[in-house]
Amino acid sequence: DLKGKKVLISAGGTREAIDPVRFIGNRSSGKQGVAIAVEARNRGAEVSLILANSNISDVAGIETIRVETAQQMHNALKERMPDCDVLVMSAAVADAKPATSSSEKIKKKEFNSIELIANADILAELSSSANDSQLIVGFAAETSNIEESGRAKLKAKELDFIYVNDVSNGAIFASDLSAGYLISSEGKSTHIEQTSKAKVARIILDNVVSRLSYANG
Ligand code: CTP
Repeated sequence: DLKGKKVLISAGGTREAIDPVRFIGNRSSGKQGVAIAVEARNRGAEVSLILANSNISDVAGIETIRVETAQQMHNALKERMPDCDVLVMSAAVADAKPATSSSEKIKKKEFNSIELIANADILAELSSSANDSQLIVGFAAETSNIEESGRAKLKAKELDFIYVNDVSNGAIFASDLSAGYLISSEGKSTHIEQTSKAKVARIILDNVVSRLSYANG
């Protein structure tokens, strides 16, 4: 049911270099995004996966572009966005990066503070320049007020759907399981009890497919 559709997916967690040895990163494994890529491929879509710092191997039938930083992810997505029917932004993008990255390893006696500058919000930017027929799914990781924060982000970033992960206690990172809410721009919220990331992928794409078929009459 996704035959003929181009699905662009980001996954994993970006890293921002402090020096040649250290980076600012996060605990995303890329598993959820890869599960969505596999499910989209199985449903007949042409899939491009922009994968940041994940140790998951390439999957047959999925174009995989490996990136490290938020800027590299941004560039790879921007290039492919005009062509895609669906964007799924499951990557954990670093909100900020060191103002300067040292080419030499910083010695510990000088390693006291890091000045940060903000990274662009890739999803908000791609969403604001998307056309009406493109469908956009965002993600959010929350530790409290999960559903409410998800709704606020869906609205602020003008998304069609958002999947809000419950990450309290570091749950879900690198796990094969996930729990959260899938919220649609039409106001529907579906609570997903702890289940496999493969099942979450199926639920998300079921919703995407019904929205696409509704849009096509
Ligand atoms: N995202 C992005 N670019 C960023 C940060 C986030 O594209 N620089 C995307 C993520 O891929 C995800 C969504 O935005 O799909 C939600 O990210 P999140 O960090 O939860 O939201 P923020 O708006 O940054 O809010 P918060 O203040 O809670 O961090």
